[in-house]
Amino acid sequence: MNPASSIRVLLIEDNPGDARLIREYLYDPAGASFELEQAATLAEGATRLGRGGIDIVLLDLSLPDSPMPETFVRVHQCDPQVPIIVMSGLDDEQFAMQTVQEGAQDYLVKGHVDTRLLIHAIRYAIERKRVAEAFARERELFHTLLDSLPDRIFFKDTQSRFTRISKALTDHFQLGHPRDAVGKTDGDFFTSEHADAALNDERELMKSGEAILGKVERETLPDGSVAWALTSKLPLKDRRGQITGLYGISRDITPLKKFEEQLEQERNLLRSLIDNLPDYIYVKDTRGRYLLDNIAHRRFLGAVSEKDVVGRDAGDFFAPDLAARFSADDLRVIETGEPLVNREERITDAHGNIRWHSTTKVPLRSTEGRVFGLVAISRDITRRKLNEEALQKANDDLARNKDHLERALDDLQRSHEELKSAQFQLIEAEKMQSIGRLAAGVAHEVKNPLGIIGMGVEYLTKHLQTPDENVGLILTDMHEAIRRADGIIHGLLDFSVPHALDCHAEDLNTLVEQSCVLVRHTLHSAGLNLVRDLAPNLPPAWLDRNKIKQVFVNVLTNAIHATPAGGLITVLTYARQLEAADVDRDAGSRLADRFRAGERVVVAEVIDSGSGIPEAKLAQIFDPFFTTKETGKGTGLGLTVTKKIVELHGGSIDIRNRKEGGAVVTLMFKI
Ligand SMILES: Nc1ncnc2c1ncn2[C@@H]1O[C@H](COP(=O)(O)OP(=O)(O)OP(=O)(O)O)[C@@H](O)[C@H]1O
Ligand SMILES: [Mg+2]
Repeated sequence: MNPASSIRVLLIEDNPGDARLIREYLYDPAGASFELEQAATLAEGATRLGRGGIDIVLLDLSLPDSPMPETFVRVHQCDPQVPIIVMSGLDDEQFAMQTVQEGAQDYLVKGHVDTRLLIHAIRYAIERKRVAEAFARERELFHTLLDSLPDRIFFKDTQSRFTRISKALTDHFQLGHPRDAVGKTDGDFFTSEHADAALNDERELMKSGEAILGKVERETLPDGSVAWALTSKLPLKDRRGQITGLYGISRDITPLKKFEEQLEQERNLLRSLIDNLPDYIYVKDTRGRYLLDNIAHRRFLGAVSEKDVVGRDAGDFFAPDLAARFSADDLRVIETGEPLVNREERITDAHGNIRWHSTTKVPLRSTEGRVFGLVAISRDITRRKLNEEALQKANDDLARNKDHLERALDDLQRSHEELKSAQFQLIEAEKMQSIGRLAAGVAHEVKNPLGIIGMGVEYLTKHLQTPDENVGLILTDMHEAIRRADGIIHGLLDFSVPHALDCHAEDLNTLVEQSCVLVRHTLHSAGLNLVRDLAPNLPPAWLDRNKIKQVFVNVLTNAIHATPAGGLITVLTYARQLEAADVDRDAGSRLADRFRAGERVVVAEVIDSGSGIPEAKLAQIFDPFFTTKETGKGTGLGLTVTKKIVELHGGSIDIRNRKEGGAVVTLMFKI
């Protein structure tokens, strides 16, 4: 109610005299104005109250439509908010007290009232009602607080006995009603472990008057369970400031505490995991400063404890260029948010040793996704790296040595082949010698009887006179057969006893010319042409004239036999200097055994346009008695003897097929 505005007073009074009197009392020229309305019956009064806007009721209890003892209660029920002052003619103290207890603000006895008393009574009544209501509201709030707050609220007296507890605490203590806790102590609900500690705290609080704020308490209950609470306790004081007890509020933080314990456990697990791993693990902030690291990493850095590392950066432990490289990697991970996986780093450790690390750096993100640092795990791969390097070196060495090895292998292979061919030649030579000895023996033994038979046939041819003409023919055949056998004997003797060379400085061209004369007849009867292309001024060579002529006759005869009529036989001579390529053993040169690079030689080539020699037979043509000719035409000793003679001269003979057909025989002699 605003004191400046007027007070609306409803006077319920049936007596007009009393009503007038009261109206006069309320006339206040000083300013406090009253608006007085009157109702003469209870019904009228009730109707007016129902409309509202009445600040106070002045009630006469004796009304025509209500028995006096009930009047107050009936009016009060119409609007319990409106204060009522009872105006009674009955000066009965007991009745007055009863009416006040029923809710009347005052009980005034008519006739004892004057203006001042009535105005005071009205004012106080209105104010008292207002205060009472405010108090009731506060009380209601207080009860709401106690009944619905999940936090536990309690009040205790100076002996730490509960005087009032909230519903939440009532439930916690498993009590039916808050009043069940009144007079009890913590000792009735907790084990002494917690109760004694709480009692000590409270005694101290009440002695010092100092509040305990936000204390984490471990509450142990008789059933063995443990709970955690966050408790504040404050001293309760009366108006004079005297401590009359305490009050407190306590929140159950058991789930929070359990979560914290779990977190702690996980942290410990992680810590022991990190510390026991042999890999290096560290965490850095965005400026490259270590936030934590594990034991292996610390040992690697040469640090003793975590505080030697935390807050420092790579520059404190590594050479500037290495530290700069690490920082660049860190920065890239932090700026891009992309992890760096298995980066191989070459590092000089605290003792100056070169180490290899394989490092993975992963950005650390806050729950909002912001990168606030990085975590790195690094593994020492020095051993692997050294092995790799050794392997690489071994591979390189192997690759380098491969060429040597291959060359050595080639040499070995060649040596082996040479050895084989030498062995073969040795065997061949041995064979030839045996054949030679045999041939010489046979030739020697056969030569004399053959001579005697020859002379006998000659004698008989001259002196035998017989009409049988067959005898003459037989003697001619015998003569021819003896001549052939004699040829073979000579061939065998040439082959087996060719050592007696009678060498002089000879012009090769001259020997070629003379040999050509010897085969001229055979050549012509075979219908062949002969071309001589002889280099002029050939230097002389040291040769056995007859033997070399025998060589050319043999070779020319072979060419003539191989070449069909109308064919061409060419004889070339020239001199030349041998080059390295000519005697290159590796290139398969057969001259290598006899000649050296730089040596001068005279060469004769006999080229025919005949059949050539089948490749399969090339290897056999120098073998004794190898011939493709029909019996009587060839003995197969021609090339055997030829080769023998050439080699005795230190020269070489080579027979090959020509691409354009026919064969070429090349003879070479040192000058
Ligand atoms: N120019 C050539 N063309 C083709 N075949 C040849 C030539 N020279 C030699 N031969 C072959 O080589 C074989 C052996 O020749 P070789 O001179 O040793 O014996 P031959 O000529 O058969 O008999 P002979 O002892 O009477 O000379 C020949 O039978 C022939 O088949
Ligand atoms: Mg021959």
